[in-house]
Amino acid sequence: MLPKVILHIASSLDGRITNFPADLELYYGLAAQWNPDAILFGSATVLAAVRDNPALEVPPEHVQMFTPPKDAKTDPRPLLVIADSRGRVHCWDAIRKWPYMRDLLALCSSATPQEYISYLANRHIGTIVAGNNRIDMRAALTELNTQFGVKVVRVDSGGTLNSVLLQGGLVDEVSVLIHPYLAGGEPGPTMFDPVNAAISGLQVPLMLRSTKVVGDGIIWALYSVRE
Ligand SMILES: NC(=O)c1ccc[n+]([C@@H]2O[C@H](COP(=O)([O-])OP(=O)(O)OC[C@H]3O[C@@H](n4cnc5c(N)ncnc54)[C@H](OP(=O)(O)O)[C@@H]3O)[C@@H](O)[C@H]2O)c1
Repeated sequence: MLPKVILHIASSLDGRITNFPADLELYYGLAAQWNPDAILFGSATVLAAVRDNPALEVPPEHVQMFTPPKDAKTDPRPLLVIADSRGRVHCWDAIRKWPYMRDLLALCSSATPQEYISYLANRHIGTIVAGNNRIDMRAALTELNTQFGVKVVRVDSGGTLNSVLLQGGLVDEVSVLIHPYLAGGEPGPTMFDPVNAAISGLQVPLMLRSTKVVGDGIIWALYSVRE
């Protein structure tokens, strides 16, 4: 069975997803309402977080890193899942300390370097291998459900992974927090970037489900993906 998948995005009025002061407290507060069993990050989103916070980059690894949590099966907090077939994320130790998830999991493909698979295994980070070159997201999500009982996934990524998931027909809801801010700057990244995901031409009709003004003049628009 496939889990329900929700893209949750903070955007400026001019469609930027970076380069503006997003209300993160509101973003994460609303995100909790779906009670997700897993939060899925794109690797570039994690690498951007590392760029913004270099302390994440090379923390001294500590013993906790090598001790898998004992209560991961009963802990109600979500799994934190990173799609990283190219083995680019090396800040798992720092991420492990984030308080809001029960355990970590990497999505990889058959093309993921073996050294990286060993690196993850040595750190007791679970791995789902799906797909040949890039990750087969349908297969990976199905495995998340089968192996880990994940029924609801909230996606925290940029337009690349969002597009891959949309192209695969894997997204149920798109939630956008439109901030009263004109961010300007570079055109990318955006919330939807099929060109970067090498699936250019993709277009996705949506159906508006609700709108609400929340926080300081932020429009929260919730859409479902039209069949
Ligand atoms: N405002 C917001 O709400 C928000 C939220 C999250 C992120 N962001 C921003 O978004 C930016 C990052 O966005 P991004 O679009 O560059 O990257 P991203 O979506 O975070 O990461 C790209 C992901 O797509 C995967 N991918 C690419 N092509 C694929 C394919 N053909 N099949 C399967 N998987 C594929 C990559 O997997 P591999 O690693 O395996 O290649 C990677 O996990 C950052 O600046 C971040 O700060 C904003």
